[in-house]
Amino acid sequence: STPPPRLLASSAPLPTPYTVPLPIPALAKPYRSDASADYYELVQRAAEVEILPGLRTPIWGYGGQFPGPTIRARAGRRTVVRVANGLGAPTVTHLHGGHTPPESDGYPTDLVQPGARRDYVFPLEQRAATLWYHDHRMDYTGPQVWRGLAGFFLVGDEEESALPLPSGERDVPLMICDRSFAADGTMPYPARDGGPGAREAFMGGVLGDVILVNGAPWPRLGVDRARYRLRLLNGSNARTYELALPPGGTLTQIGSDGGLLAAPRTLERVRLAPGERADVVVDFAAYRVGDHVELRNLLEEGAQARVMRFTVERDARDDSAIPKTLSRVEPLDPAKATVTRDFQFTSGDLHGHTGWMINGKPFDARRVDAKPRLGDIEIWRLTSDVAHPVHLHLAGFQVLSVGGERPSGPPEWKDTVELREAQTVEIITRFTGYRGRYVLHCHNLEHEDMAMMSTFEVV
Ligand code: C2O
Ligand code: CU
Repeated sequence: STPPPRLLASSAPLPTPYTVPLPIPALAKPYRSDASADYYELVQRAAEVEILPGLRTPIWGYGGQFPGPTIRARAGRRTVVRVANGLGAPTVTHLHGGHTPPESDGYPTDLVQPGARRDYVFPLEQRAATLWYHDHRMDYTGPQVWRGLAGFFLVGDEEESALPLPSGERDVPLMICDRSFAADGTMPYPARDGGPGAREAFMGGVLGDVILVNGAPWPRLGVDRARYRLRLLNGSNARTYELALPPGGTLTQIGSDGGLLAAPRTLERVRLAPGERADVVVDFAAYRVGDHVELRNLLEEGAQARVMRFTVERDARDDSAIPKTLSRVEPLDPAKATVTRDFQFTSGDLHGHTGWMINGKPFDARRVDAKPRLGDIEIWRLTSDVAHPVHLHLAGFQVLSVGGERPSGPPEWKDTVELREAQTVEIITRFTGYRGRYVLHCHNLEHEDMAMMSTFEVV
């Protein structure tokens, strides 16, 4: 039997929910732009920031910030991100959702050593979408992301710009994650090998008891009586959310991991496993000035059910709209698939320790488990024991079936999909990107660090 995620209890004094203002991560500015590319530099640094009022919290951040600066890029425009490692440990940076050449993908053993730097080159031959960048170091992704190594990377394109969706200050990225705080403000992370039982306690994943949005605990945001686009990202190590605006508030989903849906869909709740994104539009004109609108996690009760609160502050003009059709999302045809591959996500015993595996094997950077051909359409059948959010690098996919049922809703592109307990999810994908080595893995970061990852090579 698999232990449940380990909930770390904070001993620091926690703020009253909805008193801390929502921070918006600063936009990164290119240090150079030329005819063919934009160049950014992100320096990974240790820093101390105020997350809980009056306490200093040591973090590791891109630019010394948590979340790191937001990069706003254009589809088809080469974007070069220089990551300089000013930390005392090796790092790897991955653009989650990027269709990226293998040398820039952040393969888990492709380390940037302390004091070194590296240019990650992103051609961005892909659709507009809400992506994010984060650490991906083998065996240490969980602790390094927990310390703060994550940020937004928003890709725009002409199709999206032509739509009258909310923009500017009404286009708000929200990175939701959980952490815990010791009395001195630090965010302790359990040592996997910290004595008897430690590894088992770590096995289910690590949960915090404080919900952060853009690095602030249970924040508040003042809004106009107007439509807002909220780019929801679950940046948690192991926590899943079912987000809702009770009572009766609606969320209109317009985008998913892989960009705009074919058509909007109205939801009462949006479920996000670690790594997943959903772009939703909320129309605050449905409320009155002075109303408080809470975003809650329906999977929890008490403090951890709270996420953030919007307060409707004023009447305002709103020229935005949600078009009936959003984007061309052509379904991939299963009849054109050249192969169906099976991937079993299960726990198992290796060298006397319990760990996580794919097809009975722990991650090994010297082994290639699948060799799809460039341009081929493939069906991948993913099966779980307990719940696992599964993420595929390089290529977006479409979900063909969940537990044998075709998903309802408009066609969409995904890069991360939640397998619930003992479930099979079939995805269809096309490897149109680049030849080389990529990974498929569980995005519960503790499962990932405990080897639930597999290498495939596009040939
Ligand atoms: Cu968001 Cu391979 O990771
Ligand atoms: Cu998992």
